Amino acid sequence: MDFIGDKEYWEEKFAGRGDKQLSPEKSVVENIGYFKKGSVLDIACGDGRNGLFLIENGFKVTGVDFSSKALERFKMFAERNNHYLNTKQIDLSKVSSLKDIGIFDNVLINHYRLSKEQLADMENHIADEGILFICGFGYKHKVDHKIRKEDLIKETDFQEIKKSFQLIKYIENEDDRGFFVTYIFRKKKE
Ligand SMILES: C[S@@+](CC[C@H](N)C(=O)[O-])C[C@H]1O[C@@H](n2cnc3c(N)ncnc32)[C@H](O)[C@@H]1O
Repeated sequence: MDFIGDKEYWEEKFAGRGDKQLSPEKSVVENIGYFKKGSVLDIACGDGRNGLFLIENGFKVTGVDFSSKALERFKMFAERNNHYLNTKQIDLSKVSSLKDIGIFDNVLINHYRLSKEQLADMENHIADEGILFICGFGYKHKVDHKIRKEDLIKETDFQEIKKSFQLIKYIENEDDRGFFVTYIFRKKKE
């Protein structure tokens, strides 16, 4: 089953979640100091566990996802705390879906794998010295019917962006969910 890109699966999953927000990703919490002050585009934001954490830490967040239920929940959590939030329903399987999204100080992609082409386009959506923060299943993660080989983040994903971004930190960590890698890139000054 194509679980990551299955809209129905995600709509159901978010509809079935309780009233409490999940904890933000450990890697985002531990490395928040690398983010550039300002705005964050949270790509495939889900119901906003990371976006909300970033808002609470002073960032202006825009969340994009194809699940209306996820975005509804993200808005609910933000409103509950009187936080400003911008959301947009976008299907990332369309290569040009982020074309008009704008420019941000940071882009966060947590547990979603953008295509190489979309990653290359990130230089058009991140300000100079802005941060591209990517965390997801890495090469040692056990593949199964849910997480396939093609869902794993690979070093080669970033070949195209090396001209305009510098890798400032790489982290590997393993927990009961699997094996994760984090790449933190900073956009070079033009
Ligand atoms: C594993 S969840 C990660 C959610 C969030 N980033 C987090 O860390 O909690 C994957 C997310 O990708 C979204 N997604 C999957 N395919 C997508 C697509 N084609 N376009 C937009 N969002 C998509 C799902 O709706 C889901 O919210």
